[in-house]
Order: sequence, then structure tokens, then C-alpha cells
Amino acid sequence: MTDTQQTDIVQQVTERFVKEFGEQPSIIVRAPGRVNLIGEHTDYNDGFVMPMAINRSVVIALRPRTDRHVNIISLDFDQPITFALDGLTKEKASPTEYVKGVAWALQEDGYELSGFEGVMKGDVPIGSGLSSSAALEMAAVRAFLACIDADWQPAKFALLGQKVENKWMGVNSGIMDQMISAAGVADHAVMIDCRSLEIETLRVPPRTAVLILDTSTRRGLVDSAYNERRQQCEDAAEFFDVPALRDVTVEMFNEKAEGLDPLIRQRARHIVTENARVLEARDAMLKDDAAWLGRLMDESHVSLRDDYEVSSEALNAIVDITRKQPGVYGARMTGAGFGGCAVALVDAETVESIVAPIAAEYKEQTGLDASIYVTEAAEGAEIIKS
Ligand code: GLA
Repeated sequence: MTDTQQTDIVQQVTERFVKEFGEQPSIIVRAPGRVNLIGEHTDYNDGFVMPMAINRSVVIALRPRTDRHVNIISLDFDQPITFALDGLTKEKASPTEYVKGVAWALQEDGYELSGFEGVMKGDVPIGSGLSSSAALEMAAVRAFLACIDADWQPAKFALLGQKVENKWMGVNSGIMDQMISAAGVADHAVMIDCRSLEIETLRVPPRTAVLILDTSTRRGLVDSAYNERRQQCEDAAEFFDVPALRDVTVEMFNEKAEGLDPLIRQRARHIVTENARVLEARDAMLKDDAAWLGRLMDESHVSLRDDYEVSSEALNAIVDITRKQPGVYGARMTGAGFGGCAVALVDAETVESIVAPIAAEYKEQTGLDASIYVTEAAEGAEIIKS
């Protein structure tokens, strides 16, 4: 973890910790957000995704307590995160609920937790589709485990984080976000088989940069649309008589899809072709072929826009504007959709020079201010100090 911005956050939480508790924190943990290069909405179909952990994360500096209280000062939120580990009950969604949900899931799994106190700060923009909540969950898991010296197992605790989302927060999400936050590898994208949870690390093609383009729109109504898509995918899997759409190849789809309801067919076509694109993206990356990978990202966007219908005007605008710039291999919306961020693969030499023109044209077209930045592939959840 050498990134200057991340070092800065570690310094800020450490300084506040010292001020508050009169000594150095005994433990510091960090867990990253993510950007998905390709493989969108495939995770809950047991399919393939290709995200990378980013150099934006949640950092917690802490010391264990001898009692069962958790008390975290947040440098981002007005309210501290405080609760007792006994008799946990769900309350209205707030940052506290994520940490409480993690405590609940770990205790359900038999862990005997101790309380802790500390200071937390994050720089994953909230609601932008870069998985700030998975980052908070994985940082909380690492914090609780570090206090009791328990082993870290990325896939196991990614599943536990997903359980927090599904059962505690009531959000029906897949496994991608927690898995990449837990298992990210610096300088690499990670292909995840969302059925077996096997991972393969792959290098982003040399001399390219990954650009995140935040439309500054935040997704509305995303939960209901997300659940509706999940249901449509399950209906399609039933039609093909398979456990999940992951089991449907493009050939099988072409042979049988005629019989499907047109809307369900459209949704299934996105999943089936997107899974094939991720596998092809792997080949492109093994060959260091940026143009090929970029083409697949472009195709993914079209499929998400037209077949899966989870893009938005702002996302389409920023993707179209980006594609016109010199040195851009490909661009697409990333994450659940309906707002948030796009991602582009760009020639490393031209990347800095296209940021201002994209922002200007986007502002002219939409009246909105985009934030655009290059990201490095970062390490997954880790203990920085213990
Ligand atoms: C959200 C969910 C993920 C995944 C993506 C879409 O980020 O949390 O599980 O389904 O949307 O690819």
C-alpha cells in the first residue's frame, strides 16, 4: 500500500486516534472499493466477472476493548458508530448497520468477538457504483478478526459480507463486490468464477490506464430494478432448464431463445453474451491486447444499455463522449447502473490530456460536473499494522 492518497488517510485516522485515545492505534486495517472492467450483472447468474480493487478504500485505526462495546469515530459521518455486541437488532440503514451486520454475521458463525474503539475514514465515493459498502464491510471484518487474532480467508469472508448485505441490510446483491474487496491483487484485475469462487489474476494490458468517470448522478430506484432483473434471469434459467444462466452458452441461446418472452429473452441475451465476453476478455488480457479488450468493453455497454436496460442518459453521455477521445480503447458503465460511474481503458500516454475535454463536453451536454480519475489496481482487504 504505497499510494500517497491512501497514506494520507492512514495518517489522518492515526492522528485523530492519538488525539482521542492518547496512544498509537495497535491495529490499522484497510479494505478497497472496486471497479468492474467487464462482466456486469453476471455474478448473481453464477457467471464470470473481471473487477479490480481500486486505490480508494475504508481505513480503520483501532485498539481492542476488554468489554463488548464497539465505538468508532468517523471522519466522514457526523454520527459515531457505536453499539454493544450483545442483543444486536436492525435499525434504519446507516453506516453503523454495516458494522453491526458484520458483528452479527461473525457471531452467527461462532466467532467470539471482542469490542474495539477507533477512528475510521474512507474515500470511496458513496452511491457511485464503486462499492463503498463492500469496502466498509470487509474493513469491519478485518478489524473484528484482528482483535481476536483469527485467520483471514477471502472467499469465506466475502460470502459473510454478502450475507450482511442480503440478510441485515436487505439488499439482494451478488458476490462480486465483497469478493474483489477481499481478494484484490495489486496491479491486477481479478477474474472471478462466481459459482466456484475461484479467481485468476490478470494484468491489465501494458501502457494502458484505467479511467473512472463519475457522472455525479446517483442511482435511484436501483433496488427494485435490480430485483426485477434477478427475477427475469431466474425465469430465463427455468426456461432453459438449467440452475443458472451461466449454464447457457451462446449456441444454446440461439437455438432455443425464440420460445422466450421477448423481454426475458433480451435480459438473458445480455447475461449469456456478457459471460462470453468476460472469457474473451481473459484471452485479450493474456495476449496484452488492449484494442480487443476495449472492443469487448464497448460491446458490454451496448448490451447493458439496450438489452439489460440498466444504463442512464448520463452514463450513455459520458461513455459516448469518452469513446470519441484519442487513445481510448473502450468504455462502459460499471456497477449496478442507473447512475454512478463508467470505466474506460485508455492509452497511458494520452490519458491525462483527455480528462479536461471529457469533463467540458459532459458539462455542456448534461449541465453536470463529472469527476474523472485514473485508478491503480490495489491490494484487497489487509492489515496495515498490528
Ligand atoms: C452491484 C451488486 C453486484 C453486481 C453488480 C452488477 O454492484 O452489488 O453484486 O451484481 O451490481 O454487476
